[in-house]
Amino acid sequence: MVVVRGAGAGRRNWVRFVPAFWFGSYGKKSLRNSHPNVRAELRPSLARRLNARLNAFRASGRRPKFFDELLIGVLGEEVPHLFSKVDIMDETYAELPRPEFYKVDTVHDSIFTFPQYLEGLLERWHSFYLKGEQTVGGGKNIMRLDFDGRKVVLTIPNSELRKEIAHNLGLLLGKDNFLQNFPGQSEREIAIPLENRRGPVVFWKQPLAEIAKTLANHVIPKGRYIMEKPLNIPLINGRTWEIRHLVHCDRLYRPVITAKYGKIGGDAYFGNMDLGGRPVLAEKPVHDVLQNSQKEREFLVRSEGIALAGAKLLNAHLLSSLTSYINARMTGITPDNFFARRLAVDITGHLGRNGKLFPAVIEIQYPIGFKSYVPELEEVDKQALARVQAMDKALEKQDLPLIQQMLNG
Ligand SMILES: Nc1ncnc2c1ncn2[C@@H]1O[C@H](COP(=O)(O)OP(=O)(O)OP(=O)(O)O)[C@@H](O)[C@H]1O
Ligand SMILES: [Mg+2]
Repeated sequence: MVVVRGAGAGRRNWVRFVPAFWFGSYGKKSLRNSHPNVRAELRPSLARRLNARLNAFRASGRRPKFFDELLIGVLGEEVPHLFSKVDIMDETYAELPRPEFYKVDTVHDSIFTFPQYLEGLLERWHSFYLKGEQTVGGGKNIMRLDFDGRKVVLTIPNSELRKEIAHNLGLLLGKDNFLQNFPGQSEREIAIPLENRRGPVVFWKQPLAEIAKTLANHVIPKGRYIMEKPLNIPLINGRTWEIRHLVHCDRLYRPVITAKYGKIGGDAYFGNMDLGGRPVLAEKPVHDVLQNSQKEREFLVRSEGIALAGAKLLNAHLLSSLTSYINARMTGITPDNFFARRLAVDITGHLGRNGKLFPAVIEIQYPIGFKSYVPELEEVDKQALARVQAMDKALEKQDLPLIQQMLNG
């Protein structure tokens, strides 16, 4: 397949896709009878790059099982800002019950600069999660910051990120913006005190504003982040928890919950399996917290409704971003095929001031790798795993012609 610059002068945005990546009209036409030879609007430079991606993808011999994997694999790598965690969060989370968050870019300022956000949120919230771009990776790009009035503590579960941060702090040694810091309570923590005082004598001071500035400009890796207020999760034996809902969408975008299981975290801060968490039946953590079968049922039903709503919002985001980026009528592959085949929605319980437990979304996991649920379901719910696999098969079968059309064209 090649994309060629289309019809003449004054129409520089028009390109023609031939033969498999061409465009037809929107709407729910069948694959076979849609009209092949229609031009599409697309920035020529982007069209070129997308084609290069598509060709590289073909040459790689990779054959995805689901059509959305192919879209994400080709388009997603070319326009990664559409599918990063930060974007998925930004686009879908506003309408879901979630903690307050700010989207920040350490390089390009928004309303405030990154140091201002760091300082402001430490002052106001005392704690927040700083979540990076990656969508998959189980705690690889996340840290928590806590401020108790005397020190800022960074808790960094991933050892590589921790090394990078410690290294950056080390590089400041002997420089003006040097931050005095110490190991925290555990090896995952770095503590940065505001001052060193013995009795009335203050040996040195590093005000919060200065700490924030140095962290932002010299220590925290550059990139786009979400700064998120911690939920008030009632702990189970000192451990956090959440319920992972696996959602599949069928051809009519209808989301269904095919499986779910509980995750009991390795500690109070992080619920990831890779960080010492373990899988349990979905009902278990809610039962441990609520001890009231009526309330437990209500919570579980509401959580499922929220997971389904999350899937719908994600699909709306995929549809609008893919169609506006391709910005074209793809013959044979109509935009109604742009939806997530499988995703996961992690939901925990937030204890409100009224003492009531509300379901709240921790994250929407998309794309989702099979490693993020198969071992867990094998352990806690084999029947659900069989359901998931049957659904996968049906969707694979449905997507095969679409994938062939795009890859063999
Ligand atoms: N706002 C929050 N309040 C309380 N706990 C949170 C919050 N955000 C994250 N956590 C905890 O941190 C863990 C990891 O966060 P999250 O799932 O967002 O990132 P991640 O798992 O590292 O990302 P990914 O799975 O995409 O690699 C969660 O499982 C949860 O236990
Ligand atoms: Mg996670």
